[in-house]
Amino acid sequence: MRILGIETSCDETAAAVVEDGIKILSNVVASSSEMHAKTGGIIPEVAARQQVVSILPVMQNAMSNVKCQMSNIDAIAVTVGPGLIGSLLVGIETAKTLSYLWKKPIIPINHLVAHIYANWIDTSEQWTVDGEQKKTSHHTPHTIHQPQFPVLALVVSGGHTDLVLMKNHRKLTWIGGTRDDAAGEAFDKCARILGLPYPGGPAISAAAEKYFNQSPFTNHHLLNMFPRPLINEVNYDWSFSGLKTAVLRRVKEPFDKAQGKQGSKIVKEKLSISLLAAEVQEAIVDSLVEKSLRAIKEFKPRSFLLAGGVAANKRLREKFLSRIKTEILQVFHVPPANLCTDNAASIASCAFYNYHPVDWKKIKANPGLTIVGEI
Ligand code: KG4
Ligand code: ZN
Repeated sequence: MRILGIETSCDETAAAVVEDGIKILSNVVASSSEMHAKTGGIIPEVAARQQVVSILPVMQNAMSNVKCQMSNIDAIAVTVGPGLIGSLLVGIETAKTLSYLWKKPIIPINHLVAHIYANWIDTSEQWTVDGEQKKTSHHTPHTIHQPQFPVLALVVSGGHTDLVLMKNHRKLTWIGGTRDDAAGEAFDKCARILGLPYPGGPAISAAAEKYFNQSPFTNHHLLNMFPRPLINEVNYDWSFSGLKTAVLRRVKEPFDKAQGKQGSKIVKEKLSISLLAAEVQEAIVDSLVEKSLRAIKEFKPRSFLLAGGVAANKRLREKFLSRIKTEILQVFHVPPANLCTDNAASIASCAFYNYHPVDWKKIKANPGLTIVGEI
């Protein structure tokens, strides 16, 4: 079965065709993040207008291959939430129009659940407990490399941080999440304080990498400038809103003491931005890894899946891998970076495994949808 996926929940306009939930036939993503870099963050109206501009070229591109043309498509899947209302509507109305004209089934998709399904796609990296990486290939049966239930999944994106247990494709239970800011939001807000561009995650990651290249003998254990709230509490909750205040204080303090221009010089000399970036990254990564490991020990899943934009973070992937090696878990999956961030292949894959078409007239945007919310 070939499903055309459409994703327009935020500042990415994406369309993809995926076969049987695992094989990507086309995958096109256009991002307006460069426009938002100029304003230091997303202005919803600007993002929505850009969705209108991008949607048709993106669709045309994703369907240019003969295998992806209308007659070869069996169904259409579209993100209905969560996300920005103006952005969501562009994808939804496009999908409804196609469903009506082509007389093809349409499947509404929860964006957060779809992030998890990037791990079912054929290119997802799978790591065994002994640290051996097994890449899926067309020569091996897919089932061997697919996540095995029960699954524990950590979804870390720009607006959400959720830990969920999946008994099967239909049964998803929320077991924890953030009490305030999402992990990606913490990266974005801290980057802004440090004068790094939007989106903050990749910018902080690159600055931290620079720090390690300049200080090759620095041990990650020494990076403990910022708090890791709730890390020792017996629950699966996170809190990231205090981090930006801690960073702000650290950056502002020497400035305030020295007052004026001389102060800003002191900030530059005494606190390197790349060190602060490495500290921010380590604080976020540490919290995510420690709390997830606590859940892995309690729920004993057969597979642990990392998903969402923040899962593209190299340090997070490394730390999970090194810690999971010593734990009881069988396998750890993480999608390649381009399938961690917003894309439509995950939407199409999610629709294959959760095939519930509805009448196009009943499809509505749901900006506040939660990971376990009813569509
Ligand atoms: O899943 P996503 O693409 O969009 C949402 O659904 O929100 O996630 C975007 C978030 C942003 O906060 C961005 O800063 C973060 O993912 N992100 C990263 C990295 N790449 C993207 N955070 C840390 N390290 C990265 N390499
Ligand atoms: Zn997302």
